[in-house]
Amino acid sequence: MKKITIAIDGHASTGKSSLAKKIAKKFDYIHVNSGSMYRAVTYFILKNDLQNLVESDVNELIKKLQNNPIEFKFDNNSNIYEIYLNKVNIEKKLNDLKVSDYVSKVAAIPEIRKELVKIQREIDRSNGIVMDGRDIGSIVFPDAELKLFLTASAKVRAKRRYSEMINAGVNVNYSDVLENLKKRDTLDSTRKDSPLIIVKDAILIDNSNLTIDNQIQYISKLIRSKQNI
Ligand code: C5P
Repeated sequence: MKKITIAIDGHASTGKSSLAKKIAKKFDYIHVNSGSMYRAVTYFILKNDLQNLVESDVNELIKKLQNNPIEFKFDNNSNIYEIYLNKVNIEKKLNDLKVSDYVSKVAAIPEIRKELVKIQREIDRSNGIVMDGRDIGSIVFPDAELKLFLTASAKVRAKRRYSEMINAGVNVNYSDVLENLKKRDTLDSTRKDSPLIIVKDAILIDNSNLTIDNQIQYISKLIRSKQNI
């Protein structure tokens, strides 16, 4: 059976990563959350107070990033790539609202996108991969056999995200979460380099009224049909 590349793009907080993780597990594929790379760079900038370089000297910022490597390491138990900064696992730092508030600004910088897309393309796809993000079907893997674009109403997405954060012990307001995801959608869709778009060969899924199991069932059928080609 053919192992394929699955690109999942879509609006903020549409459950792309949770879905990608479950699909990867079901099909014994690897899962890469590309958003965590943009979040890791953002975390690095905020931690080291480098926002001035974002505005004034991107080359200097890239140099600093090259001296503080961000890497993915594969966890054999979970089948998931986790993100490390200077050899330290920073996976748990990435969903902070401060990171969410700044990440789309960082992700709009072409030089940073170039570096991260290079790392994404170097990942071995031969055993099947599910990668989620904003430009996976359009830029990173335009040859992906299956491209999905996830969306849902902003209120549904904010409610889900808010509950997730509260359950994880993060102290946030619902209205801040809603505002953040609307702001990111606008920035991500209007930036010049690699904007969030629905490519013409993508399948659009509005999951406002779908459970994760509904989505997995539907997507599994699509995967099986592509694997058998
Ligand atoms: O997927 P997640 O919501 O964690 O992504 C955080 C941000 O990273 C997005 O809002 C977007 O600005 C950026 N991103 C991107 N390209 C990707 C993945 C994420 O620009 N492939």
